[in-house]
Amino acid sequence: MSSVHWWQNAVVYQVYVRSFSDSDGDGVGDLEGVRSRLGYLELLGVDALWLTPFFTSPMADHGYDVADPRSVDPVFGDLRTFDALVTDAHEHGLRVMIDLVPNHTSTEHEWFRAALDSVPGSPERARYHFRRGRGEEGELPPNNWTSVFGGPAWTRALDLDAAGEWAPGGWYLHLLSPDQPDLNWTNPEVWADLEKTLRFWLDRGIDGFRVHMAHGMSKPDGLPDNRGGDEGGAVGLLAPIDGDPRFDHDGVHDVHRMIRAVLDHYPGRTAIGEITVGDDERFARYVRSDELHLGFNFRLLQAPFDAAAVREAIEHSLAAVKWAGAAPTWTLSNHDAPRPVSRYGGGALGRARARAMTLVELALPGAVCLYNGEELGLPDAELPDAELQDPIWELSGHAERGRDSCRVPMPWEGDAPGHGFTSGQPWLPMPPEYGELTVAGQLEDTTSTLSLIRRAVELRKTHPAFTGDGVEWFGAPSGCLAFRRAGSTLVCALNTSNNAVPLPPGDLLLASGPLNGNLLPPDTAAWLA
Ligand code: GLC
Repeated sequence: MSSVHWWQNAVVYQVYVRSFSDSDGDGVGDLEGVRSRLGYLELLGVDALWLTPFFTSPMADHGYDVADPRSVDPVFGDLRTFDALVTDAHEHGLRVMIDLVPNHTSTEHEWFRAALDSVPGSPERARYHFRRGRGEEGELPPNNWTSVFGGPAWTRALDLDAAGEWAPGGWYLHLLSPDQPDLNWTNPEVWADLEKTLRFWLDRGIDGFRVHMAHGMSKPDGLPDNRGGDEGGAVGLLAPIDGDPRFDHDGVHDVHRMIRAVLDHYPGRTAIGEITVGDDERFARYVRSDELHLGFNFRLLQAPFDAAAVREAIEHSLAAVKWAGAAPTWTLSNHDAPRPVSRYGGGALGRARARAMTLVELALPGAVCLYNGEELGLPDAELPDAELQDPIWELSGHAERGRDSCRVPMPWEGDAPGHGFTSGQPWLPMPPEYGELTVAGQLEDTTSTLSLIRRAVELRKTHPAFTGDGVEWFGAPSGCLAFRRAGSTLVCALNTSNNAVPLPPGDLLLASGPLNGNLLPPDTAAWLA
């Protein structure tokens, strides 16, 4: 793999649209808000934006429950605003990627409403997975699968009975919430509709898609029980799903070949899949030359702050694309996982570690994805129960708090409660400490996390040492790691131990925190060349 295409070494910035910038004071971020912040993103130096779903949706899963995939929900704007955003982003030198949600629709999608109004065996129901239940009266779910969000993966629908009355009847499958019925990917109409959606957005000038749950869609024949455990499968969005019949079924690769075939008609456009397949060889299948261009690998995000674990995550991520000849991807943070500052211990310690890990990530060959607020070193927000909105909270019977804490709006400036995100009431409360982490404040401060990441992104783009596709490991003291970009002079060292260690030889380019002479202190990373 040498960097021929822009995405192979891009820094992609994930905009969680609800929480980025609100232009109309309703407390929810929108497309016009994103448009008004393009100058900031240009300054940050990223290459592309990935916009989370802004399509018409009842928002049961904040837009990942799509009622019409070829439209803009009024809460986010309209198609004209979207077109203006794409045009302006391109003028700022930023590419635009959008989310694609092919595994399921919303229950409010016209197809699903028609399915509920139709009889078992009808073409309307054949676009989803409706099945008769087990038990004498069909009163038990058709198999033991659980939803990723908690609870059974099946909900019972009403059917017309012999007397012409609507009564509890067949069940429909939803690997996520009951508001997200899974589409039947053996149905040609489902394929044709996705192709239409791909072309609709590509023709509007977008540069690519992030394919949600790229290991979903295809289901095994007969929908056999999950034998992996009594529970019917792992719960949790980014949990590895190896051997789980709900996911990573071989048939999914035909879907990716179709997506790729469409994209190949649009030079320069790309697709990056959300893939939680743990096995390296099975992961690699998704990024073969006729499938997705890139795949999100979550190993780095899941690794604790420990040099050995970080190295293992890097080695697996590289191995998982090498076989297919694709570029690796790196991510420490997204809207589905606790923020790194909190994950690594919170407070000043968590922030120091998150800064160090960002240097590790940005030193690696391949594409990097930053999640909005990561560049500010935002911690997770503590939210009272009454504010929680993620469906996981209810569906897990309040066992899991869900992902709201990492989705709290961006603080832009000032001490007012909306911190420049909104003139109204933010859809999730912003903690007072976010007032010390605003974009405006950090731009002024050369030691801020924002200044560090800006500088790191700039060096990554402009310094000649940032070449080379592989990673060569150096010997390092216990609790530390050091690697060199193969074929280049860039060295990155990370110290996760409790003691300061000597820096590897080379001229210092950047450090994630203060150094101690020629020593790399704990919880710090440095770049040398
Ligand atoms: C994707 C999204 C996640 C959403 C899920 C289900 O994985 O990243 O936020 O909940 O799809 O639709």
